[in-house]
Amino acid sequence: MKIGLLTSGGDCPGLNAVIRSAVLHGIKSYGDTFLGFRHGWAGVLADDAVSLVRADVKGLAREGGTILGSSRTNPFDGPNGGADAVAEVLERRQVDALVAIGGEGTLAGAKRLADAGLPVIGVPKTIDNDLRGTDYTFGFDTAVSIATDAMDRLRTTGESHRRCMVAEVMGRNVGWIALHSGLAAGAHAVLIPEQPVSMDQLCAWVTEVHERGRSPLVVVAEGFVPEGTETAPALATAADGRPRGVGEVITAAIEERTGIETRNTSLGHVQRGGNPTGFDRVLATRFGMAAVDLVRDRQWGRMVSIQGTEIVRVDLTAALDGLKTVPAERWAEARALFGR
Ligand code: F6P
Repeated sequence: MKIGLLTSGGDCPGLNAVIRSAVLHGIKSYGDTFLGFRHGWAGVLADDAVSLVRADVKGLAREGGTILGSSRTNPFDGPNGGADAVAEVLERRQVDALVAIGGEGTLAGAKRLADAGLPVIGVPKTIDNDLRGTDYTFGFDTAVSIATDAMDRLRTTGESHRRCMVAEVMGRNVGWIALHSGLAAGAHAVLIPEQPVSMDQLCAWVTEVHERGRSPLVVVAEGFVPEGTETAPALATAADGRPRGVGEVITAAIEERTGIETRNTSLGHVQRGGNPTGFDRVLATRFGMAAVDLVRDRQWGRMVSIQGTEIVRVDLTAALDGLKTVPAERWAEARALFGR
């Protein structure tokens, strides 16, 4: 078969490992050929593609980013979009199946195309780990490990100065990265969008840690809004009119209310860059191989997923049923270790 691959949405460590294993497995096991569409759905709509052979994927499992490039283009947007336009490109290129590797938006597009009768399957990805239908997505473990390492470093400089250190991590809607990195680094407060915490409560935790002679370490997900305050953008405007992230906002508030010198570090896209961890390489590699098997079985409208330790197949709708938020009991586990 001739199989098209695309990577779409925010990039993620492990995308290249999926491409590598799909190409190697397809070529070696079935004699398939591969075409990589560049910059996600944009490449499909513009018919911008390159053929992928064994030499193109050599050593790729360890490389961050995506050799195909990515974009947030939706296949149904714009005058050139829509199922007919995609079908035309697949036909012209004689592509028998398309593997869409991406997050919620990408998989929603893949589902609509499959519903329109196109041979499309999905591979889930996001560093946020907020996709339903799979226990884990590759990229998450790498992000957690980068955030944990950053907090280990913030702790030593914080302790030298007896400062409170705030680390803002990614997670627009969910707090999985904050929860896992906070647990791993032994943070004194873990602030996530799913769990309301007031500034009074946070300052009480910070003061208590400081009074014990320690340097408070606070991890906050970018989508967290302190209880009793406005929405994040409304409170996040500095005197100079510059938008501020929640890390900066709570850092200023802690310092003002407690008198404890406090510093913020927003990790930003550092969490998405660089080489994937071993865990993410293995997960992405297994997903890539399973995706080719899914194609061979003509399971259009489905995606690969991990449940426990098994790679399974689920309908794409499983990933599109709202975000996978952090359950209250998972936050309570972390909460039991900080504050009184
Ligand atoms: O969804 C992945 C993610 O990294 C979020 O955690 C973050 O809020 C967002 O993407 C950043 O998007 P962009 O790279 O487009 O700024």
